[in-house]
Amino acid sequence: YRNLRVALLGAGSVGAQVVSLLLKHGDELAQRSGAGLELVGVAVRDIDAPRSAEIPKHLLTTDAEGLIVGADIVIELIGGLEPARSYILQALNSGADVITANKALLATHGPELFDAAEQVGAQLYYEAAVAAAIPIIRPLRDSLAGDRIRRIMGIVNGTTNFILDRMDTAGESLETALKTATELGYAEADPTADIEGYDAAQKAAILASLAFHTTVPIGKVYREGITSVTLEQVDAARKAGYVVKLLAIAERLVDKETGTEGVSARVYPALVPRTHPLATVHAAKNAVFIEAEAAGDLMFYGAGAGGIETASAVLGDLVSAARRHVIGGPGLAESTDANLPILPISSVTTRY
Ligand code: HSE
Repeated sequence: YRNLRVALLGAGSVGAQVVSLLLKHGDELAQRSGAGLELVGVAVRDIDAPRSAEIPKHLLTTDAEGLIVGADIVIELIGGLEPARSYILQALNSGADVITANKALLATHGPELFDAAEQVGAQLYYEAAVAAAIPIIRPLRDSLAGDRIRRIMGIVNGTTNFILDRMDTAGESLETALKTATELGYAEADPTADIEGYDAAQKAAILASLAFHTTVPIGKVYREGITSVTLEQVDAARKAGYVVKLLAIAERLVDKETGTEGVSARVYPALVPRTHPLATVHAAKNAVFIEAEAAGDLMFYGAGAGGIETASAVLGDLVSAARRHVIGGPGLAESTDANLPILPISSVTTRY
């Protein structure tokens, strides 16, 4: 069993849950990965700050750079551009794989980070950066790599979906609903990023880049938030058979004059017919609706915000990264699956 040294940067609502789940299920995840996962430390700004889950004191350090040295896998959950960017570059340049949930950084400096990873043969994982717990990065990058995507329409910000849903179903004001969303831990540290559509625009840039195999810089994403949406508009939409949703749209378009294909990426409050699957996405849930040439319509639905939900995606990336370090994959002899009883057919139910 090889032991992998895992360093975590940041212990906010997601980071604290990653530690808690890793300490709880570490053995199981190690077995699944085929490698030991040793959490060597958690870098924070303030050792004594209150946390959403308890972290053993001996793991905490304020020396992020020191922690990165010697790590096999670095998980960056600080957020924001700096110092997250410098830490990720330091980790990649030292040959470590990096896992991040940092949509702002990817939407702004993605190419620089991917280049740095490529140069040393390291990997950058970011399943948690878009729509938190919903697996959307791998499906776009891998499962749909053989198809041609026409359009993606996503509800990718939980806070604004929560607000618009409350306005629609309870006649609540934007301010009241935002307060609740913040208390529930969905909103960004500065909720302007949510309600003005910056968070959704960053996710749109990431989805558009992946779906159309190109680089869509954040500056090229059209963005409008929900601050000017009124209760009257929401009511009028409902009476006409629509619901207002903040949509992130990425679409393949042909320039009528030149005939060349391009990509349009935009975020704005849109009228969604109540019969569309996206209209059924309530509260802080997210969904990504994909229209592909061969696959047809697909929808990915689930929790798009929240500490433990986002931690699920981070830990999935951790298992993927660990598996990559194990030559030949996780040894079958180590697998618990081999010991599972074979169920008689009669106990297999078709219900779920
Ligand atoms: N503030 C974000 C949201 C968190 O509300 O969706 C997840 O990125």
